[in-house]
Amino acid sequence: MHKKDGMYYPSEEIAEGAHVNSEHIYKEAENDPVKFWEDRAREIDWREEWETSFIHKPPYFEWFLGGKLNITESFLDKNKDSDKTAIIFCPNSPDEEERKISYRELYREVNRFSNALKRMGVRKGESVGIYLPMIPEAIFALLACARIGAMHAVVFSAFSPSALRVRMQDVGARVLITADGFSRAGEFIELKKQADEGIKDTSVEKMIVVKRGSNEIDFTEKDVWYHEIIKEESEECPAEIMDSEDPFFVLYTSGSTGKPKGVLHACGGYAVQAKATGKLIFDLKGSDVFWSTADIGWITGHTYTVYSPLLNGATLLLFEGVPNWPEPDRFAKIIEKHKVTAFYTAPTAVRMLKTQLGDFQRELDSLRILGSVGEPIDEDSWEWFYKIVGKERCPLVDTWWQTETGGILMSSLPGVGPFKPTFAGRPFPGVKFKVYDEDGNEMPPNKEGDLVILPPFAPGMLRGVYKNDEKYREEYFSVFGEEVYYTSDTAYYDEKGLFRIVGRADDVIKVAGHRLSTGELENAISKHEDIVECAVVGIKDEIKGEAPVAFVVSNSGKDSDDLVGEVKKMLMSEIGPIASLKQVYIVPDLPKTRSGKIMRRIMKKIFSGEDLGDLSTLANPESVDGLKEEIQKGQ
Ligand code: PRX
Repeated sequence: MHKKDGMYYPSEEIAEGAHVNSEHIYKEAENDPVKFWEDRAREIDWREEWETSFIHKPPYFEWFLGGKLNITESFLDKNKDSDKTAIIFCPNSPDEEERKISYRELYREVNRFSNALKRMGVRKGESVGIYLPMIPEAIFALLACARIGAMHAVVFSAFSPSALRVRMQDVGARVLITADGFSRAGEFIELKKQADEGIKDTSVEKMIVVKRGSNEIDFTEKDVWYHEIIKEESEECPAEIMDSEDPFFVLYTSGSTGKPKGVLHACGGYAVQAKATGKLIFDLKGSDVFWSTADIGWITGHTYTVYSPLLNGATLLLFEGVPNWPEPDRFAKIIEKHKVTAFYTAPTAVRMLKTQLGDFQRELDSLRILGSVGEPIDEDSWEWFYKIVGKERCPLVDTWWQTETGGILMSSLPGVGPFKPTFAGRPFPGVKFKVYDEDGNEMPPNKEGDLVILPPFAPGMLRGVYKNDEKYREEYFSVFGEEVYYTSDTAYYDEKGLFRIVGRADDVIKVAGHRLSTGELENAISKHEDIVECAVVGIKDEIKGEAPVAFVVSNSGKDSDDLVGEVKKMLMSEIGPIASLKQVYIVPDLPKTRSGKIMRRIMKKIFSGEDLGDLSTLANPESVDGLKEEIQKGQ
């Protein structure tokens, strides 16, 4: 790599070896974006080719109409006789034996599971809940659903029973796939117990339990063991042939309200974008060992931990543990041992490793490409990642996308560049981003505004919000009209057309890369009987990027330490450990407008030390002093 004017460019060697190393692809895609995606679509296997490539009936759009496929055929059937490793599984404990699963074995395992699901009555189009840790069976579960045309609805295994319940109630799954228990770092999680609790008042009738923790569980009539139901099943299961626009999966994510929304993706377009972005952005080839550290509970876990590396015929690495356990050298050791070639992680992990020095002094000469995702990466962490992990040799692709976009839509390509620390980079070929002011006028370079996407939208983008069409229209296609996709991000671009993401414009916060809505946290806290009112804001955190703090108004004379403890516990049980509060402030009043809207912006500004601006619009300006006082006490 070499540096010029504060930007990095790939060396000749990297460029020469890369799938893409010239501007050509950008020009081609710009001239005819639909053709660009058609060409990408030809790189996956279709049973029947599509008749119409793209239809746009704002705010709806469809891709590859009439096309028929099953995503699993592009990597399972294709490689069914291959002994090449598809999955390297590294368990939580370094003392437990690792597992390698070949493409041939993956084909058989997925087919057995698919047959078992069918035997249980699971049909095409129905949803199946998945609540599993990062174990190979989680991948088998995803792929078995895909194979039989059922929609998987994965719930992050660190979500609490209540969070599982809300999602299962919305998606209406009859079957939930979970595990008895598992270890994460030094902690044991009784997942089945959580699942039992979480499915109360839902439509879940059957639970498939993977034996992982071997802990004692309450095994009742509704439960079956995974290893038992697949035992007698055939290793052949013909794939259900899907229409390109059939629903593929639902994944819940946080929006501006308290209720998570089920983002819906379609079969054909998602597969095309997952394959193309992995190939062009991570330069994936059959010889790669690709490690995306994202949990399958999140979109990155779906697209880049599972589907993209498989669609590109690479070997994927699946890691059950955490970066700094039992020692901070865990990531480096895994990269070294398994000769990882592309390593994709979140800035929060980079910051953690950087402060603990992560022992990346090792050679790590297998690495070719580094990637970052999920939140803006600060310059210091970017440079550390690039120098200490990538040895100034590997392109560092900062990748911007969302649960809704299905795959990456912004990132410089490794063989082309340029890479500018803190900038996500260039739009993916064929994707048109703009920055708008609030009236929908295009902003000039270096001016912040709303990041939007113009049609034709990439094929992997969402097709709807599950059972909530109004939400789809309202969240994504109402701010600037039905033809403009509103990202909810604030951004700007420089003279070279490189984009920098500033952050979310809504009430979503990114805690260690995980997407949470302050509204969701407030709903959970409000369930406490002593809380009259509350507001949650995200504040800067050294490691997590952002961390939530809560301001609560209480009507009880309860001891404040007790109340703080109860509020924190409330969030643990309603959402899970990712929602752990950095601080809870008990205050007499919250700043509000005359119409009663809580002014979270003011609370954020008190933390960041910004000028609070004109407070005269507040109904209760004196509340601000109360907040300042409490914050000072807490510091
Ligand atoms: O604010 C942006 C931020 O993460 C949001 C999407 O979150 P989620 O749906 O959980 O998907 C995360 C993984 C794809 C975006 O609206 N974000 C994502 N990637 C970046 C980013 N912010 C800055 N730089 C990125 N590379």
